[in-house]
Amino acid sequence: MDIVIAGGHGKIAQQLERLLADAGHRVRGLIRNPDHAADLEAAGADPVVADLEELDVDALAQLLGSADAIVFAAGAGPGSGPQRKWTVDYAGAVKLMEVARRNAIDRYVIVSSMGADPAADDDGGFGTYLRAKGQADQKLVESGLAYTIVRPGGLTDDDPAGRVKAGSDVGRGKIPRADVAAVLAAVLETPEAAGLTFELISGETPIAEAIAQLIAR
Ligand SMILES: NC(=O)c1ccc[n+]([C@@H]2O[C@H](COP(=O)([O-])OP(=O)(O)OC[C@H]3O[C@@H](n4cnc5c(N)ncnc54)[C@H](OP(=O)(O)O)[C@@H]3O)[C@@H](O)[C@H]2O)c1
Repeated sequence: MDIVIAGGHGKIAQQLERLLADAGHRVRGLIRNPDHAADLEAAGADPVVADLEELDVDALAQLLGSADAIVFAAGAGPGSGPQRKWTVDYAGAVKLMEVARRNAIDRYVIVSSMGADPAADDDGGFGTYLRAKGQADQKLVESGLAYTIVRPGGLTDDDPAGRVKAGSDVGRGKIPRADVAAVLAAVLETPEAAGLTFELISGETPIAEAIAQLIAR
């Protein structure tokens, strides 16, 4: 597959790039800082400099051209103010949905968050983040794209366990970024995972089995 990853220098994204490249996929990672290009190349991905806040849909569509899937793994980050929750976490994701529609890229996988809620309290902090993420997820569901919405709990940099708990309400918990990346890779390689929205934390179930169980439900 030909896969574009937004937030290409992110911690999850770089692990996903390596997994996908090792599996033989063509991977492009969108970065805003050209100094990050070498890290993507080391992970097996082609860097594309594209600031999601600066570029409009026309420019992004032209830059990306055709692809088989988009993964939105970008985020303004916990140090950012409320404004950037809207310009990155919400608008960045929505711009790429429009690019996907225009460029006939049918598949769209988003790294959302446990607790994402379009009606979350717009408190200028974590509530605003959850609201922006929830509204982006809602737009994706309404987009007509073959979406998968992955909502991890608290992210850690622990080694991957390869075992997760995935479902509509898994309770609070944590998960290594490496396991989130493995779930994203598995979802991309599983067309039947289109239409799924699920929470994700560490658990007992091997990743492929956890995804198969979600599809069977
Ligand atoms: N932290 C948690 O516990 C948690 C829990 C659930 C979900 N999440 C979600 O998971 C996502 C991925 O996690 P992570 O740890 O991999 O995040 P990360 O390392 O912070 O990666 C986010 C990436 O987004 C990029 N970005 C920011 N603004 C951008 C812009 N305007 N244009 C293009 N790219 C931009 C950043 O680029 P720069 O490197 O240039 O800054 C960064 O590389 C988070 O963003 C968050 O929404 C987090």
